[in-house]
Amino acid sequence: MIGFQGVLGGLTVTQLLRFDIVTAHLGTALLFFSAMLIMGTALLPYTSTGTVGQLPWLGLGATAIVYGQCLLGGLVGSRWAARQCFGLGELCQVMNSHLLGIVPATLAVLGLTWVVWRTPALSYPLRRLGSLASTWLVFQLVMGIATFRLRLQVEPLTVIHHTLGAALVGTLVCFTTLAWRDALSRDRAALSHPDYAQKA
Ligand code: HEM
Repeated sequence: MIGFQGVLGGLTVTQLLRFDIVTAHLGTALLFFSAMLIMGTALLPYTSTGTVGQLPWLGLGATAIVYGQCLLGGLVGSRWAARQCFGLGELCQVMNSHLLGIVPATLAVLGLTWVVWRTPALSYPLRRLGSLASTWLVFQLVMGIATFRLRLQVEPLTVIHHTLGAALVGTLVCFTTLAWRDALSRDRAALSHPDYAQKA
C-alpha cells in the first residue's frame, strides 16, 4: 500500500495535480492509516463482553459511508469545485454531492452512537469510541460549515476539516475492529462451550 501511495504521490507531481490522482492519493492515505490502526487495535489487550449484537456491521457501514464522504470532499478540493461554484457557478454538482453526503454520514455516525448508548454491558473502549465518533462528527460539521461560509479564505479551517475527516475515519476503524474482535471471541466461546451459547 505504501508503495502504491508513493507511485500516486509521484504521479500527483508529474501529472500536475490531476484531480483523480489527487483524490486516489487521499483515498490510499486513509486506507494506509486504517491498516495501521487495524493492526494496532487487533494487538491491544481486550476483554470481550459478548454484547455487541449488530454493532460490528453498523461500525463497518458507518466507516464505509464516512470514507466515501471523505473521497467526495477530496474531489471538491482537488477540482477546486467550491471556488469554481462560488465564483463561476461551475462544478456545483461536485460541491453539492459532498453537501448531500453529509446526510448519510451524519445518520450513520449518530445512529451508531445511539445504538452504543442503548447497548447494555458494552465494553468501556467501545463505549468511549462510539461517543468519540459523534464528537468528531459535530466538530467536523462545524468546521465544514465554517470553511464553506468563509469561502475557503481561512486556510487553517480547511486543514482542520481535512484532519477531522481522518480522525473520524480512524475512530470508526478502531471501533469496528474492536467490535469484530468482541463478536468473534463471543462466537469462539459459544463453539467451545455449548452452555454459554444457550445462555447467550
Ligand atoms: C461527515 C462530514 C464530513 C466529512 C467526513 C468531510 C470530509 C472532507 C474531506 C476529507 C475533505 C477533503 C479536504 C482536502 O482534501 O484537503 C473535505 C473537503 C471539503 N468539505 Fe467536507 N466533510 C464533511 C462535512 C462537510 C460540511 C458540513 C461542509 C459544509 C457545509 C463541508 C465542506 C467542504 C468543502 C467546501 C471542502 C473543500 C475544501 C477545499 O476546496 O479545499 N464538508 N471534506
